[in-house]
Amino acid sequence: MEFPVKTGNPAKVETDCFVIPVYQDDELLPAAARLDDASEKLIGQLIERGDFDARLGRVQLIPFSPGLSTERLLLVGLGKREKCQEAAFRKALDATFTALAELPVDNCTVAFTDVPLAERGTDWKARMVAEATHRALYRFDQLKSEKQPAPRLEQVALLVSAESEADGAREGARIGNAVGRGVNTARTLGNLPGNVCTPSYLAEQAEALGRTSGGALAVEILDEEALEALGAHSLLSVGRGSEQPSRLIVMKYQGAEDPDEAPHVLVGKGITFDTGGISLKPGEAMDEMKFDMCGAASVFGTVEATLAIRPKVNLVAIVAAAENMPDGLATKPGDIIKTLKGLSVEVLNTDAEGRLVLCDALTYAERFEPASVVDIATLTGACIIALGHHATGLLANDDDLALDLLDAGEAAWDRAWHLPLWDEYQEQLDSNFADLANIGGRPAGTITAACFLSRFADKFPWAHLDIAGTAWTSGKQKGASGRPVGLLTQYLLDREGDAVVETEVETGAE
Ligand code: BES
Ligand code: MN
Ligand code: ZN
Repeated sequence: MEFPVKTGNPAKVETDCFVIPVYQDDELLPAAARLDDASEKLIGQLIERGDFDARLGRVQLIPFSPGLSTERLLLVGLGKREKCQEAAFRKALDATFTALAELPVDNCTVAFTDVPLAERGTDWKARMVAEATHRALYRFDQLKSEKQPAPRLEQVALLVSAESEADGAREGARIGNAVGRGVNTARTLGNLPGNVCTPSYLAEQAEALGRTSGGALAVEILDEEALEALGAHSLLSVGRGSEQPSRLIVMKYQGAEDPDEAPHVLVGKGITFDTGGISLKPGEAMDEMKFDMCGAASVFGTVEATLAIRPKVNLVAIVAAAENMPDGLATKPGDIIKTLKGLSVEVLNTDAEGRLVLCDALTYAERFEPASVVDIATLTGACIIALGHHATGLLANDDDLALDLLDAGEAAWDRAWHLPLWDEYQEQLDSNFADLANIGGRPAGTITAACFLSRFADKFPWAHLDIAGTAWTSGKQKGASGRPVGLLTQYLLDREGDAVVETEVETGAE
């Protein structure tokens, strides 16, 4: 997919389809007004006659364009001007590219940077255009015999009003293109069924990424033997009831000028299917537990975006992969296991398995002496009850890191919400027989899950993203969302230059 940037007279732009955003009951935006003037008020008349209704998300194709160099026009409703900010803008983009995916056009030109948004510049709008394009063109039909025809769209040109806007648009499109691809990679890994996407499949994906990175990504896979030798018994305890062997996947990217600069570490929960184990889940919608590796999928998507963008940061990406099944060797409620850190854990519920793989991965992260560690996990059903399907849950042992992640989520429009990780909650994990229990009872399930992880994250600034509500959609539109690849990529981009600033503070330099 290409996103060239254009300036100049909109009436003279040669394109298969010109996309024009329109407010409800308001004046035309600049590019639309110029097209209107050059076409004997075609757009104005259509609106006047009621042939186009500019309510948010409405689209109308005009398959001709007298006086203009474009083949077609696509009018897109923005709704009321005063209500049109980020969320509405994105909704209009989704409607646009969903419509374009069905049209016989190879390229289009969009005038979306014309839409004034209070807190966003051209770069952000261009980024959102690129991300929305990838989102709308995404198909997951590799396991269907009969495939729908693939969308033809290959090029989305961004028309900007002035040359001074062009660089911003180009940079935004570059980031959006990379994030969009990363998001779709995460969606595909999430959508793949549990019998295809196993822990070894994820390990192979990492190795493939390493091979195609031209040396930019170093990949190491720890198999069960290596994990046993290491002492990662908690991670191993989860896969014990499965025929599929567990894996710890480690990917390293060095983008900082100083290869020794402390890396940022991402840790993804990669439960490729979660039956609950011996604490078996009820049958309803259990198929959706193939999505229990969406944290891992978002780590892969972010690595891919990072390889495309090449930010000047060091990154270590870790995926803790296992399948949670009930069988003769499966861990049982009451079993006590020893974690890599040395703490013993009483497994009171084998369905609280995410934290058991993540705790060993967090301990493993210590060896990288990280600047920050962020884990991403479909960890608790309670998070869906607390925040629904819009906000990712965020908990952290460091308020600066929490703020950085909230900011990144806001910037990428892939938002998280901060929940408390107060000491008072920790006692819910007390065990009569081991150092701690793996569940904390019904109250505040998302927080006690994070409390569990926090016991293994005492050596670095750490944050936890609970994506149980945001990683996939249920129902007719069932499918992985690719969240939070946008947030994570933005977080890494924002870390460029952090180390330089710190050295300056230390040395007192200006
Ligand atoms: N993967 C689930 C969490 C989950 C459930 C995410 C439903 C999205 C939708 C996790 O492994 C789990 O089963 N958590 C338990 C924890 C409980 C036993 C303390 C839960 O949320 O019920
Ligand atoms: Mn579970
Ligand atoms: Zn799970």
